[in-house]
Amino acid sequence: MKSKNHLLFLFLVFLSLSSAFLSKKTKHHKPCKTLVLYFHDIIYNGKNTANATSAIVTAPPGYNLTILAGNFHLGNIAVLDDPITLDNNLHSKPVGQAQGLHMYDTKNTFTAWLGFSFVLNTTEYKGSINFIGADPILVEERDISVVGGTGEFFMHRGIATIMTDTFESEVYFWLRVDIKFC
Ligand SMILES: *[C@@H]1O[C@H](CO)[C@@H](O)[C@H](O)[C@H]1NC(C)=O
Ligand SMILES: *[C@@H]1O[C@H](CO)[C@@H](O)[C@H](O)[C@H]1NC(C)=O
Ligand SMILES: *[C@@H]1O[C@H](CO)[C@@H](O)[C@H](O)[C@H]1NC(C)=O
Repeated sequence: MKSKNHLLFLFLVFLSLSSAFLSKKTKHHKPCKTLVLYFHDIIYNGKNTANATSAIVTAPPGYNLTILAGNFHLGNIAVLDDPITLDNNLHSKPVGQAQGLHMYDTKNTFTAWLGFSFVLNTTEYKGSINFIGADPILVEERDISVVGGTGEFFMHRGIATIMTDTFESEVYFWLRVDIKFC
């Protein structure tokens, strides 16, 4: 009887251990934290100096820095300093700046390579979140990597789902970013 109890005990230990391993495996894909933010990009077009938040800094031969190039913008790199807001309104109080670049690097479709940081400094959020990855612009929801952070976001990693909320004009668009990280 005693050894039977012993066996049962071992079996229960095994069960709890294996379920711990299993839950660890699935937990890997579940974010501990989510954050939804928007950022607004107004490309400099030669006339909107006061309003622009990003600038084209390289263009392929035959194109200038005031308009995105043909051939799927291949060869353009834009540097951005975009306001981040909690909703999709450009005029909402910004909670930080999105700073970095997007680089058009595909010759047969619209794809950009993104590398930027969200720099946040408010009472709710203090620190930076760093993103990189390929952005197939035409896909409605696309994921890029959250590779790390500073301050409150120390050691945070995960993914960010990017959605183009709206193109309001040739030069203004905003993106919704669903950040899922641990
Ligand atoms: C800046 O650009 C946005 C988007 O095109 C526009 O809604 C806004 O009125 C502009 N503001 C100024 C001061 O031009
Ligand atoms: C840049 O290129 C566009 C399109 O070719 C043209 O309309 C515009 O005048 C050019 N701007 C400058 C500053 O050269
Ligand atoms: C954050 O904001 C506070 C208050 O405005 C300022 O003192 C501080 O230098 C800012 N920190 C960073 C990293 O910008």
